[in-house]
Amino acid sequence: MSQLKNSVLESSITGIKQIKQKKAKLQIVALTGSGVSKGSGIPTFRGKDGLWKNYNAMDLATPQAFGRDPKLVWEWYSWRIGLILEKNPNPAHYTLVKLQDEGLLKWIITQNVDSLHMRAGSKNMLEVHGNIFRAKCTSCSNKIMLDTAPEKPPMCECGEMLRPDVVWFGESLDQQIIMKSYDILTNETDILLVIGTSGVVYPVADFPFLAKRNGAIIVEFNVDPTPISQIADYTILGKAEEILPKFVEAIVKIEE
Ligand code: APR
Repeated sequence: MSQLKNSVLESSITGIKQIKQKKAKLQIVALTGSGVSKGSGIPTFRGKDGLWKNYNAMDLATPQAFGRDPKLVWEWYSWRIGLILEKNPNPAHYTLVKLQDEGLLKWIITQNVDSLHMRAGSKNMLEVHGNIFRAKCTSCSNKIMLDTAPEKPPMCECGEMLRPDVVWFGESLDQQIIMKSYDILTNETDILLVIGTSGVVYPVADFPFLAKRNGAIIVEFNVDPTPISQIADYTILGKAEEILPKFVEAIVKIEE
């Protein structure tokens, strides 16, 4: 294994070694944001080259924006679908699959809509903000999967317009997904890996605090500190695509 240079990384592994030796079956959960896909070449939302720096979220990612100009909103989502289709999962996505295949990672709760966790091979996943490759009817309950970037706003077989099946600003999350997330974070999380999220969009921003209140160890992976850093047991600064593989390689080697 390459020399671990990051002292916080080393102390997080030591801390987890102590937990793993006490607890037969470690339950690790990952909470991911757009930073986990940065290594795939997909822009994040905030930060210097983030999407919200170059586009106005209120013009594109709200029900009002879609009501005002569905063509413009679909053009933007179509551009993002096209961009994502050209990209691939990165080592951060694949290393979470490895942790899953070792029986240590039980769930991924992701804010990302890019399907990259699924394409990497992750299974138990909650997509709390929806999925950009799914469209739902604005009138009936029909949903369809998109495998290419739509040229114009797709129509439902019922005759009404389809919209991206993602959670827009001002919309509430799927209640079943929220309740399942709460249950996992309360009852099934010994260690929560918080990877590549700015921790500023609710209710997901509260998830690490909920896990912490229920006894979980919080390990944050980000290039910058966030509001979650104040409660994280370890904040490992670095690119997820570089540092997460080192962390997982060390974790899976810890003897039972
Ligand atoms: N590795 C790890 N973290 C990274 C990397 C990287 N290579 N690159 C950027 N980051 C971090 C940034 O420092 C930032 O904290 O990823 C985070 C990305 O934050 P946001 O752009 O706010 O994305 P996210 O937290 O996923 O946003 C939450 O906001 O706009 C809505 O619905 C959208 O799901 C999204 C939600």
